[in-house]
Amino acid sequence: MVSKIRAAMLPEVIELDRFRLRPFRITDVDAVFRYANDEDYLRYLPIAKPYRISDAADFLAKQLLLDRECNPSWAIERDEAPAGGLNIRFFSEHRVSEIGYAVARLLWGRGIATAACRSVIASSFQCYPQLERVRARADARNVASIRVMEKLGMKREGLLRSDRLCRGQLTDEVIYGLLRAEWSP
Ligand SMILES: CC(C)(COP(=O)(O)OP(=O)(O)OC[C@H]1O[C@@H](n2cnc3c(N)ncnc32)[C@H](O)[C@@H]1OP(=O)(O)O)[C@@H](O)C(=O)NCCC(=O)NCCS
Repeated sequence: MVSKIRAAMLPEVIELDRFRLRPFRITDVDAVFRYANDEDYLRYLPIAKPYRISDAADFLAKQLLLDRECNPSWAIERDEAPAGGLNIRFFSEHRVSEIGYAVARLLWGRGIATAACRSVIASSFQCYPQLERVRARADARNVASIRVMEKLGMKREGLLRSDRLCRGQLTDEVIYGLLRAEWSP
């Protein structure tokens, strides 16, 4: 029998050099609205536009309801306010997980998404000896996200054609993966 991957063992708070990861709070609504209500931020995300404060509240409600055992998420906190988010979902029956990430536009290009993902991937492989693979996917036009996956050491595994409906437009997605055997702490 495949033993269950228990994500509850991943830390709720992860301190990193220039920021920390901590659970989202319902009081983050204004900060989330400020960074998510941005054309560039939303470009490749399947989120309705215009982005409203109620969308930020819905997002936070969903984060709070996630089962941290199989789908933990964190706010990327800088200067005591959230400036992005990260989540990882464990499919324990397959020994696989999928990671997703987003950073406020003002902080792009400073290595924050890469550092945050690297830390959560390391925690995941260390905490769960059964975990064999971390995957991520992105809109095929999202060069910054693709670069993050490459910097994480992930390998491009495929192009999923017309795989997602994003604001009425079918878009291609790329899928990347990192196997435990390829991961270096
Ligand atoms: C994708 C995203 C998370 C990257 O966050 P980030 O903190 O800027 O990422 P990093 O700084 O760790 O790395 C970004 C890399 O992309 C590169 N990059 C950014 N824009 C680029 C462009 N137009 N062309 C080529 N490379 C680009 C950066 O130079 C950097 O690579 P480098 O370190 O080799 O120079 C951020 O752009 C974002 O949140 N976008 C909106 C939400 C989103 O698309 N999330 C991903 C969903 S799959």
